[in-house]
Amino acid sequence: MSPPTGLFLSFEGIDGAGKSSHLDALAAWWRARGRSVCLTREPGGTALAEALRALFLGQEMDALTEALLVFAGRRDHLRAVIRPALARGEVVLCDRFTDATFAYQGGGRGFDTAVLAQLERWVQAADDAGGALLQPALTLWFDLPAAVAAERRAAARAADRLEREDLAFFDRVRSGYATRAAADPQRFVRIAAEQPREAVWAQVEQAVAARWPAASALPGSAGQPGGLAGQGA
Ligand SMILES: Nc1ncnc2c1ncn2[C@@H]1O[C@H](COP(=O)(O)OP(=O)(O)OP(=O)(O)O)[C@@H](O)[C@H]1O
Ligand SMILES: [Mg+2]
Repeated sequence: MSPPTGLFLSFEGIDGAGKSSHLDALAAWWRARGRSVCLTREPGGTALAEALRALFLGQEMDALTEALLVFAGRRDHLRAVIRPALARGEVVLCDRFTDATFAYQGGGRGFDTAVLAQLERWVQAADDAGGALLQPALTLWFDLPAAVAAERRAAARAADRLEREDLAFFDRVRSGYATRAAADPQRFVRIAAEQPREAVWAQVEQAVAARWPAASALPGSAGQPGGLAGQGA
């Protein structure tokens, strides 16, 4: 039997939006429906990309250097982890992807998004000439006011280099996400992330079930036509 079609989902949003809180739950949701899950993150996801992440988060540098490091890591992550997992028919859940580069370096730092778009084309195209640009099939954008996210972060942990930026920076990052979402409304679903945890989860589950209706049936559940059959696409 051929494996199901791999599915690529990304979680986006400013620091403290609640992405990590829901990644594990969505992984469990897919596993309950018979799917193998590849849980990964950016910046990072491979040994090389995690080393680049540590440099990126640990040292001062300009926005182009940030973007080059992040896209270099992304190239390795795509080749070593994401594309192979999709080829095996897995569900890839990625904690941040390229939209974050547009939001943080483009929106937050005010860096030229045309340069980011060029890097995106180089890094995410398949190796064969004319290969399509790989993007997530669904991007869950956890959106909330910067001040609410800052309160959550303050309660949760010590800040890294980017998390020490001020509220105005995170407002610009949020706008960067909004711009990116408006440009690709088919791919993005906005999650109202200021709501209580359970309400946020309900939105996540609803968005995923709406995108892949055949996959939302639990194995063996009555009255769900199709069940696991034909849920590949
Ligand atoms: N809906 C919610 N209501 C209140 N607090 C929440 C909610 N969701 C998550 N939190 C809390 O907010 C903090 C940040 O959540 P989380 O780490 O999931 O955010 P994140 O988007 O992954 O952040 P980062 O981008 O920095 O990794 C955590 O302490 C978490 O427990
Ligand atoms: Mg997180």
